[in-house]
Amino acid sequence: MRFIKTKDYEDMSRKAANIIGAQVVLKPASVLGLATGSTPIKTYANLVKDYQNGDLDFSQVSSVNLDEYKGLDRKNDQSYFYFMNDHLFKHVNIDPNRTFLPDGMENDAAKACRDYDGVLKAVGGVDLQLLGIGHNGHIGFNEPSDVFADQTICVDLAESTIQANQRFFASYDDVPKRAYTMGIGTIMAAARILILASGEGKAAIVKAAFFGPVTPKVPASILQFHPDVIVIGDEAAFSQITI
Ligand code: GLP
Repeated sequence: MRFIKTKDYEDMSRKAANIIGAQVVLKPASVLGLATGSTPIKTYANLVKDYQNGDLDFSQVSSVNLDEYKGLDRKNDQSYFYFMNDHLFKHVNIDPNRTFLPDGMENDAAKACRDYDGVLKAVGGVDLQLLGIGHNGHIGFNEPSDVFADQTICVDLAESTIQANQRFFASYDDVPKRAYTMGIGTIMAAARILILASGEGKAAIVKAAFFGPVTPKVPASILQFHPDVIVIGDEAAFSQITI
Protein backbone atom coordinates (compact mmCIF):
# COMPACT_ATOMS: atom_id res chain seq x y z
CA MET A 1 0.00 0.00 0.00
CA ARG A 2 1.20 3.48 -0.76
CA PHE A 3 0.24 6.29 1.59
CA ILE A 4 0.11 9.91 0.49
CA LYS A 5 -0.35 12.39 3.31
CA THR A 6 -1.83 15.71 2.31
CA LYS A 7 -2.11 19.01 4.12
CA ASP A 8 -5.89 19.13 4.16
CA TYR A 9 -9.07 18.12 2.36
CA GLU A 10 -8.41 20.50 -0.56
CA ASP A 11 -4.94 19.10 -1.11
CA MET A 12 -6.22 15.50 -0.86
CA SER A 13 -8.93 16.26 -3.42
CA ARG A 14 -6.48 17.81 -5.91
CA LYS A 15 -4.09 14.87 -5.67
CA ALA A 16 -6.90 12.33 -6.03
CA ALA A 17 -8.24 14.14 -9.11
CA ASN A 18 -4.74 14.23 -10.58
CA ILE A 19 -4.41 10.45 -10.24
CA ILE A 20 -7.84 9.82 -11.79
CA GLY A 21 -7.08 12.37 -14.50
CA ALA A 22 -3.76 10.69 -15.28
CA GLN A 23 -5.58 7.37 -15.63
CA VAL A 24 -7.95 8.89 -18.20
CA VAL A 25 -5.11 10.60 -20.10
CA LEU A 26 -3.07 7.39 -20.24
CA LYS A 27 -6.06 5.23 -21.18
CA PRO A 28 -8.93 7.26 -22.64
CA ALA A 29 -11.27 4.23 -22.65
CA SER A 30 -10.72 3.56 -18.95
CA VAL A 31 -13.31 1.90 -16.77
CA LEU A 32 -13.54 3.98 -13.60
CA GLY A 33 -15.07 2.57 -10.44
CA LEU A 34 -16.70 5.50 -8.68
CA ALA A 35 -17.77 6.23 -5.12
CA THR A 36 -20.20 8.53 -3.35
CA GLY A 37 -20.19 10.04 0.15
CA SER A 38 -18.98 13.45 1.19
CA THR A 39 -15.26 12.63 0.85
CA PRO A 40 -14.94 12.49 -2.97
CA ILE A 41 -17.10 15.57 -3.67
CA LYS A 42 -14.15 17.95 -4.13
CA THR A 43 -12.26 15.32 -6.14
CA TYR A 44 -15.14 15.33 -8.61
CA ALA A 45 -15.21 19.14 -8.59
CA ASN A 46 -11.53 19.14 -9.57
CA LEU A 47 -12.16 16.65 -12.37
CA VAL A 48 -14.93 18.90 -13.66
CA LYS A 49 -12.53 21.85 -13.57
CA ASP A 50 -9.88 19.88 -15.47
CA TYR A 51 -12.48 18.94 -18.06
CA GLN A 52 -13.61 22.55 -18.42
CA ASN A 53 -10.00 23.64 -18.87
CA GLY A 54 -9.67 21.19 -21.72
CA ASP A 55 -7.28 18.90 -19.86
CA LEU A 56 -9.57 15.89 -19.66
CA ASP A 57 -11.79 14.07 -22.10
CA PHE A 58 -14.32 11.56 -20.73
CA SER A 59 -15.88 10.68 -24.09
CA GLN A 60 -14.53 7.13 -24.07
CA VAL A 61 -14.69 6.50 -20.33
CA SER A 62 -17.09 3.99 -18.75
CA SER A 63 -17.99 4.11 -15.09
CA VAL A 64 -19.40 1.66 -12.58
CA ASN A 65 -20.49 2.88 -9.18
CA LEU A 66 -20.02 0.94 -6.00
CA ASP A 67 -23.51 1.04 -4.63
CA GLU A 68 -27.05 2.37 -4.53
CA TYR A 69 -29.77 2.56 -1.91
CA LYS A 70 -32.54 0.01 -2.34
CA GLY A 71 -35.87 1.69 -2.92
CA LEU A 72 -34.67 5.17 -3.90
CA ASP A 73 -35.78 6.49 -7.23
CA ARG A 74 -33.11 7.96 -9.51
CA LYS A 75 -34.88 11.31 -9.21
CA ASN A 76 -34.55 11.26 -5.43
CA ASP A 77 -31.83 13.75 -4.56
CA GLN A 78 -30.36 11.27 -2.04
CA SER A 79 -29.96 8.48 -4.57
CA TYR A 80 -26.41 7.80 -5.65
CA PHE A 81 -27.52 8.11 -9.27
CA TYR A 82 -28.60 11.68 -8.53
CA PHE A 83 -25.33 12.33 -6.65
CA MET A 84 -23.15 11.16 -9.54
CA ASN A 85 -25.09 13.17 -12.04
CA ASP A 86 -25.04 16.24 -9.84
CA HIS A 87 -21.33 16.12 -8.97
CA LEU A 88 -19.78 14.71 -12.14
CA PHE A 89 -21.70 13.23 -15.03
CA LYS A 90 -23.77 16.23 -16.11
CA HIS A 91 -20.70 18.49 -16.05
CA VAL A 92 -18.41 16.41 -18.28
CA ASN A 93 -18.62 14.68 -21.65
CA ILE A 94 -19.05 11.14 -20.34
CA ASP A 95 -21.60 9.13 -22.32
CA PRO A 96 -24.60 8.58 -19.97
CA ASN A 97 -25.09 5.19 -21.62
CA ARG A 98 -21.73 4.14 -20.25
CA THR A 99 -22.35 5.16 -16.63
CA PHE A 100 -23.65 2.34 -14.45
CA LEU A 101 -25.03 1.95 -10.93
CA PRO A 102 -27.06 -0.84 -9.36
CA ASP A 103 -30.78 -0.35 -9.97
CA GLY A 104 -32.14 0.81 -6.61
CA MET A 105 -35.71 0.49 -7.84
CA GLU A 106 -35.38 -3.21 -8.65
CA ASN A 107 -37.28 -4.78 -5.79
CA ASP A 108 -36.14 -8.31 -6.56
CA ALA A 109 -32.77 -8.26 -4.81
CA ALA A 110 -31.44 -11.41 -6.46
CA LYS A 111 -32.24 -9.96 -9.88
CA ALA A 112 -30.74 -6.56 -9.08
CA CYS A 113 -27.48 -8.21 -7.98
CA ARG A 114 -27.40 -10.58 -10.95
CA ASP A 115 -28.03 -7.71 -13.37
CA TYR A 116 -25.29 -5.56 -11.88
CA ASP A 117 -22.80 -8.43 -11.96
CA GLY A 118 -23.71 -8.74 -15.65
CA VAL A 119 -22.89 -5.06 -16.15
CA LEU A 120 -19.59 -5.40 -14.29
CA LYS A 121 -18.65 -8.36 -16.45
CA ALA A 122 -19.65 -6.57 -19.65
CA VAL A 123 -17.51 -3.48 -18.98
CA GLY A 124 -14.56 -5.82 -18.69
CA GLY A 125 -12.83 -4.95 -15.43
CA VAL A 126 -12.19 -1.77 -13.50
CA ASP A 127 -8.95 0.08 -14.24
CA LEU A 128 -9.12 2.43 -11.27
CA GLN A 129 -11.49 2.07 -8.34
CA LEU A 130 -12.11 5.11 -6.16
CA LEU A 131 -13.19 4.40 -2.57
CA GLY A 132 -14.13 6.24 0.58
CA ILE A 133 -14.21 4.52 3.94
CA GLY A 134 -17.04 4.33 6.47
CA HIS A 135 -16.40 4.88 10.17
CA ASN A 136 -16.84 1.13 10.73
CA GLY A 137 -14.50 0.26 7.85
CA HIS A 138 -17.15 -0.31 5.21
CA ILE A 139 -16.23 0.11 1.56
CA GLY A 140 -19.09 0.65 -0.85
CA PHE A 141 -21.81 -0.67 1.42
CA ASN A 142 -19.90 -3.80 2.44
CA GLU A 143 -20.63 -3.62 6.15
CA PRO A 144 -18.69 -5.47 8.87
CA SER A 145 -19.59 -9.14 8.55
CA ASP A 146 -18.39 -12.69 9.14
CA VAL A 147 -17.44 -13.12 5.49
CA PHE A 148 -16.17 -11.04 2.58
CA ALA A 149 -18.85 -10.90 -0.13
CA ASP A 150 -17.52 -11.81 -3.53
CA GLN A 151 -20.05 -10.32 -5.94
CA THR A 152 -22.89 -7.78 -5.75
CA ILE A 153 -25.09 -8.20 -2.68
CA CYS A 154 -28.10 -6.63 -1.04
CA VAL A 155 -27.09 -5.53 2.46
CA ASP A 156 -28.88 -4.49 5.61
CA LEU A 157 -27.11 -1.29 6.54
CA ALA A 158 -25.43 -1.19 9.94
CA GLU A 159 -27.21 0.91 12.55
CA SER A 160 -24.17 3.22 12.74
CA THR A 161 -24.29 3.71 8.95
CA ILE A 162 -28.00 4.53 9.04
CA GLN A 163 -27.30 7.07 11.76
CA ALA A 164 -24.33 8.55 9.87
CA ASN A 165 -26.49 8.88 6.75
CA GLN A 166 -29.40 10.43 8.62
CA ARG A 167 -27.87 13.89 8.18
CA PHE A 168 -28.84 13.75 4.50
CA PHE A 169 -32.50 12.85 5.10
CA ALA A 170 -35.44 14.61 6.71
CA SER A 171 -35.89 11.93 9.37
CA TYR A 172 -34.57 8.54 10.53
CA ASP A 173 -37.56 6.84 8.92
CA ASP A 174 -36.61 8.29 5.55
CA VAL A 175 -33.09 6.78 5.59
CA PRO A 176 -33.01 3.62 3.45
CA LYS A 177 -32.16 0.56 5.52
CA ARG A 178 -30.93 -1.60 2.65
CA ALA A 179 -28.61 -1.10 -0.29
CA TYR A 180 -27.06 -2.89 -3.23
CA THR A 181 -23.29 -2.94 -3.26
CA MET A 182 -20.49 -4.28 -5.39
CA GLY A 183 -18.88 -7.17 -3.54
CA ILE A 184 -15.42 -7.15 -2.03
CA GLY A 185 -14.29 -9.66 -4.67
CA THR A 186 -15.19 -7.23 -7.44
CA ILE A 187 -13.52 -4.32 -5.67
CA MET A 188 -10.36 -6.39 -5.19
CA ALA A 189 -10.35 -7.28 -8.91
CA ALA A 190 -9.75 -3.63 -9.89
CA ALA A 191 -6.30 -3.07 -11.35
CA ARG A 192 -5.67 -0.10 -9.06
CA ILE A 193 -7.51 1.21 -6.02
CA LEU A 194 -7.49 4.77 -4.73
CA ILE A 195 -8.97 5.22 -1.27
CA LEU A 196 -9.59 8.60 0.34
CA ALA A 197 -9.88 9.52 4.00
CA SER A 198 -10.34 12.97 5.42
CA GLY A 199 -10.75 14.36 8.92
CA GLU A 200 -10.12 13.38 12.51
CA GLY A 201 -13.22 11.20 12.51
CA LYS A 202 -11.53 8.72 10.15
CA ALA A 203 -8.20 8.50 12.03
CA ALA A 204 -9.09 5.43 14.11
CA ILE A 205 -10.50 3.44 11.21
CA VAL A 206 -7.52 4.31 8.96
CA LYS A 207 -5.26 2.78 11.61
CA ALA A 208 -7.47 -0.29 12.18
CA ALA A 209 -8.08 -0.98 8.48
CA PHE A 210 -4.57 -0.58 7.14
CA PHE A 211 -2.41 -1.47 10.14
CA GLY A 212 -4.65 -3.95 11.97
CA PRO A 213 -5.59 -7.55 11.20
CA VAL A 214 -7.29 -8.39 7.91
CA THR A 215 -10.83 -9.37 8.82
CA PRO A 216 -14.36 -9.07 7.39
CA LYS A 217 -15.21 -7.27 10.65
CA VAL A 218 -13.26 -4.37 9.11
CA PRO A 219 -14.07 -4.76 5.40
CA ALA A 220 -11.47 -2.22 4.16
CA SER A 221 -8.71 -4.27 5.80
CA ILE A 222 -8.81 -6.66 2.82
CA LEU A 223 -7.17 -3.90 0.77
CA GLN A 224 -3.90 -4.77 2.52
CA PHE A 225 -3.83 -7.82 0.21
CA HIS A 226 -4.30 -5.82 -3.00
CA PRO A 227 -1.10 -5.24 -5.00
CA ASP A 228 -1.80 -1.64 -6.03
CA VAL A 229 -3.57 0.52 -3.46
CA ILE A 230 -3.00 4.22 -2.94
CA VAL A 231 -4.36 5.68 0.30
CA ILE A 232 -4.62 9.46 0.23
CA GLY A 233 -5.47 11.07 3.51
CA ASP A 234 -5.14 14.45 5.10
CA GLU A 235 -3.09 15.05 8.23
CA ALA A 236 -6.13 14.62 10.47
CA ALA A 237 -7.10 11.25 9.00
CA PHE A 238 -3.48 10.05 9.24
CA SER A 239 -2.97 11.38 12.76
CA GLN A 240 -2.92 7.92 14.39
CA ILE A 241 -0.48 6.27 11.98
CA THR A 242 3.21 6.64 11.24
CA ILE A 243 4.16 6.48 7.57
C1 GLP B 1 -21.39 5.79 2.44
C2 GLP B 1 -20.98 5.19 1.08
C3 GLP B 1 -19.51 4.84 1.05
C4 GLP B 1 -18.70 5.97 1.64
C5 GLP B 1 -19.03 6.13 3.08
C6 GLP B 1 -18.26 7.24 3.78
O1 GLP B 1 -22.01 4.90 3.28
N1 GLP B 1 -21.76 4.08 0.67
O2 GLP B 1 -19.13 4.55 -0.29
O3 GLP B 1 -17.32 5.72 1.49
O4 GLP B 1 -20.40 6.39 3.23
O5 GLP B 1 -18.88 8.47 3.57
P1 GLP B 1 -18.22 9.87 3.81
O6 GLP B 1 -17.24 10.06 2.70
O7 GLP B 1 -19.36 10.83 3.73
O8 GLP B 1 -17.57 9.82 5.14
